[in-house]
Amino acid sequence: MEINQLLKKGVDMIKDRKYGNPVLEATMVLEELLNVDRVHIYTHGKDGVSEDVVNKFMEAMEKRSKGYPIQYIIGRKEFMGLDFYIREGVLIPRGDTEILVEYVLRYIDEKYGDRRVNVLELGIGSGAISLSIAHYNRKAKIYGVDLYSTPLEVAEENRIRLGLDNVSFYRGDLFQGIEGLNMEGKFHIIASNPPYIPSEEMDSLQEEVREYEPANALDGGEDGLAFYRRIIPESKDYLIDGGLLIFEIGYDQGKRIENMMMSEGFKDIKILKDLQGLDRVVYGVME
Ligand SMILES: C[S@@+](CC[C@H](N)C(=O)[O-])C[C@H]1O[C@@H](n2cnc3c(N)ncnc32)[C@H](O)[C@@H]1O
Repeated sequence: MEINQLLKKGVDMIKDRKYGNPVLEATMVLEELLNVDRVHIYTHGKDGVSEDVVNKFMEAMEKRSKGYPIQYIIGRKEFMGLDFYIREGVLIPRGDTEILVEYVLRYIDEKYGDRRVNVLELGIGSGAISLSIAHYNRKAKIYGVDLYSTPLEVAEENRIRLGLDNVSFYRGDLFQGIEGLNMEGKFHIIASNPPYIPSEEMDSLQEEVREYEPANALDGGEDGLAFYRRIIPESKDYLIDGGLLIFEIGYDQGKRIENMMMSEGFKDIKILKDLQGLDRVVYGVME
């Protein structure tokens, strides 16, 4: 079969999905299977494709037609200009999370310049946040914690692929993960994109997320704020004086999390919006 014919077949199989981009997605899968770039696919439409590739492609399109996320099919996702390996069991990193990473990088640059800073990330997933900070600031020392084995395995694989030696990952329930490291009062920054979807909204998420992404990366308890409620007071034991606590948040959680931080004594609390104009990040300084 020719590339063009195969692509058309694939697009037809997934074109009725509500979320997605059928031509792009079918092309991405073929790029991966043929190990060529997009331009090659578009300029070699008449080339023949082996039966093995046809079978694998059809299998992938079949999965995609049932809502299986394209990023799990191709096994990667770009984040902050870096290529992250991902698989089922870790959250697919979202573009909006780059807002938090960009803020942290700018903050380190402006406040600490070339000095070494310690950063703690709680809930690492694929390692997207920790590893991007580590990649773009080689002087920073990053500690990343997750409670589950798949994120820890995937993040470590990404650390190796990106060749970073300024990041270490630990297993545990939030701050328990770094117990015994003697890091109390030593973090310049604590960052987290914790699970923040209210439990009762889990069933109404789009199929791609609801059926295939890990619930323990998404479910933030009854009102979605369970993790903030734990992290905000505990972070005070681990931050330096003047240290920064920064979160990704749900679009309607800004005010409530700001209030929680205020009542724990955090100062200079600000909310950053995403490209859609929705609350996305909140941060504050411990005095
Ligand atoms: C929303 S995901 C964020 C993943 C990644 N940081 C990102 O932004 O793509 C939340 C992460 O928190 C982890 N997590 C959930 N409960 C946790 C706990 N009690 N302690 C540590 N990590 C936890 C999940 O496994 C998941 O990787």
